[in-house]
Amino acid sequence: MGFVSGLQCRECKRQYEAQPIYVCEFCFGPLEAVYDYDKIRSHLTREKIQSRAANLWRYLELLPIEGEPRVGLDSGCTPLVEAKNLAKAIGVKRLYVKDDTVVHPTLSFKDRVVSVALTRAAEFGFDTVACASTGNLAHSVSAHGARAGFNRFIFIPASLETSKIVASLVYEPNLIAVDGNYDDVNRLCSEIANKYKWAFVNINIRPYYAEGSKTLGFEIIEQLGWRAPDNVIVPCASGSLLTKVWKSFKEFKQIGIIDELNTRVFAAQPLGCNPIVKAIKDKTDIIRPVKPDTVAKSLAIGNPADGFYALKVVEETNGYGEDVTDDEIIDGMKLLARTEGIFAETAGGVTVAVTKKLVQKGIIGEDELTVICVTGNGLKTKEALAGHTGEPHYISPKLASFEEVLAKIKAK
Ligand SMILES: Cc1ncc(COP(=O)(O)O)c(C=O)c1O
Ligand SMILES: [Zn+2]
Repeated sequence: MGFVSGLQCRECKRQYEAQPIYVCEFCFGPLEAVYDYDKIRSHLTREKIQSRAANLWRYLELLPIEGEPRVGLDSGCTPLVEAKNLAKAIGVKRLYVKDDTVVHPTLSFKDRVVSVALTRAAEFGFDTVACASTGNLAHSVSAHGARAGFNRFIFIPASLETSKIVASLVYEPNLIAVDGNYDDVNRLCSEIANKYKWAFVNINIRPYYAEGSKTLGFEIIEQLGWRAPDNVIVPCASGSLLTKVWKSFKEFKQIGIIDELNTRVFAAQPLGCNPIVKAIKDKTDIIRPVKPDTVAKSLAIGNPADGFYALKVVEETNGYGEDVTDDEIIDGMKLLARTEGIFAETAGGVTVAVTKKLVQKGIIGEDELTVICVTGNGLKTKEALAGHTGEPHYISPKLASFEEVLAKIKAK
């Protein structure tokens, strides 16, 4: 029944059946899901979307599954927060935060991609799911996989934050901590994926998995009252999310859900892992892999699989990219918390700090409507803030002790 017509090579455009495959046999280009847009156009309307349950499957026709959704029935539909205080602090008038710090169940946008990947994995008949992760994906595959009854093999760099490791272990997956960085983990997983018949969500299921990110973009348009923003700022690791946010906007235009689309797409990366932004700034098509060294570990992919395509989106939309230091990332996290009461993980600090920089440089104008994608929860990376927050006021359980402190606070 689905509306996905198959897979297509992004390079040579050869068509493939919708199978658990991810590279073109002819040119080794990546495969991508394609849809019957004419059929969708006559089927999907704003009213239909609005009449459906508040989860990411309300855009079902534009997601690459065949049958009924099986995973993620409580995921998606996060708030689009009008960020008036943050807007004022950075010098713009219309700013929104797409708040994926609160996605069910593991508090990052990865719950979107995993909902689609595991539904598809179940359709293909896999009993074991796996992933290579910088942390958030590990949580999501562990959690969604537990509820859906899959065996789970989760591969992470051993150097991840302790709280990120615990937040996977609690779901009791087989957690494999590799002595190496994400790019080493990913290489190893490609070898394992060739040998074992598992659904590696970001390897052999990648063409399906990646499509789940589009729901973040669909929601932005719906929540803005069926219009696309002037600017959207997207944090990049592999670059996939950025390409899919843009794809979602284009699809809504193509099927007539919106009439106009003039959005500029901006890439946000940490300076310590900036292969995509560096290529944008250097005006080159060549992504040079880097060895990541950044507090934003969730974005620490030195050799980004979708980097080239992310570059092309930035180019096509007349966007740009910026990178920020570890100190700027921490400041970004604190700024968002102080102004909007949103505690984002380091990747959110990157996006906020990059937005501030783009405004300061005059690349984003004060009257434009800008959406910042904040994609993961701060409780996952508390370690990053060690030594960067204030201290509690310690008192004894006596009124006098409290009032002593109160006097000091007031005197400040
Ligand atoms: C919180 C967060 N934001 C953004 C990203 C970037 O995702 P992508 O690899 O699709 O560029 C990641 C990737 O792990 C992430 O964990
Ligand atoms: Zn090809």
